[in-house]
Amino acid sequence: MRKSGSNSVPHQPVLYHESIKYLQPKPNGKYIDGTLGAGGHAEGILKSSAPNGQLLGLDLDDQAVTIARNKLSIFGNRCFIRKASYADMENQAQALGWENVDGILLDLGLSSMQLDTADRGFSFLREAPLDMRFDRKKNRTAADLINSLPEKEISDIIWKYSEDPKSRQIAKLIIENRPIFTTKELADLILKVYRGKREKTHPATRTFQALRIEVNCELEVLKKGLVVSLNVLRSGGRIAIITFHSLEDRIVKQFFQRESTDCICPPEQPICTCKHQAVIKIITKKVVKPSQEEMVNNSRARSAKLRVAEII
Ligand SMILES: C[S@@+](CC[C@H](N)C(=O)[O-])C[C@H]1O[C@@H](n2cnc3c(N)ncnc32)[C@H](O)[C@@H]1O
Repeated sequence: MRKSGSNSVPHQPVLYHESIKYLQPKPNGKYIDGTLGAGGHAEGILKSSAPNGQLLGLDLDDQAVTIARNKLSIFGNRCFIRKASYADMENQAQALGWENVDGILLDLGLSSMQLDTADRGFSFLREAPLDMRFDRKKNRTAADLINSLPEKEISDIIWKYSEDPKSRQIAKLIIENRPIFTTKELADLILKVYRGKREKTHPATRTFQALRIEVNCELEVLKKGLVVSLNVLRSGGRIAIITFHSLEDRIVKQFFQRESTDCICPPEQPICTCKHQAVIKIITKKVVKPSQEEMVNNSRARSAKLRVAEII
């Protein structure tokens, strides 16, 4: 799994036992892992649904698809792997002749492999072209964005997706110094803005997160994926979502709240006109976080949150 030039350890699935426990995979069941990565969660779902549960695994990343395909080949025709976005899961499931499924897992964000593979450009710790695309055949790279957008738009992206208090100064320096092509060039500029001020995390962390979210349209895709999941799950089917920052978690939380509520009219309105009906019930009344032990053993797990809902 290790690629040359990377110091990567294989991706360790986060909240593994918890997500399998809540998804309750069963023999005969059909499951979608919408963010296959290295196939860790997918393997758990396939093992727990033995002998004949089936899994459709999706990922946008060619490298992830290849790794997962190898890892999961032992499950033979119980496992289908496609290079696709989870926002397209309805079409992908229909192409297999699946009308609906028993469970969906989304483990958002990026994998250790992506972070640790230098030429992907996700990490400011490794000198590389500023790429940051999950699907390298699509979209603009992070370099394309920062070298073409006006200052205000760059500043808005950084603020909106990371709330970096110095978003304006960072955008100004980007404009003054572009073209910028590599992770290190960008990280060094951000360090200048922070002038060596000691922070708990590297000052470039927030800007890198913001650019990655923008490059991959992550929040729009999440909103679409949530809506689509309601069409794909059968009654009693569950969706489990692992998020890694508050922007993602807020979207999931608000979606679950809305879709588990009958009337969504403004509270001051005396009579319901929305006719909205609850379609899910929330299974995790309190968000599930990793154990102390998992956080110690896997630093990626520290910010993880799991929320699970079930179709009524
Ligand atoms: C945190 S990793 C998943 C790790 C996986 N659960 C495991 O056990 O190895 C997230 C994966 O989601 C993929 N991804 C991100 N956005 C996606 C999307 N819209 N559709 C499909 N895959 C996506 C990334 O390429 C990455 O491989």
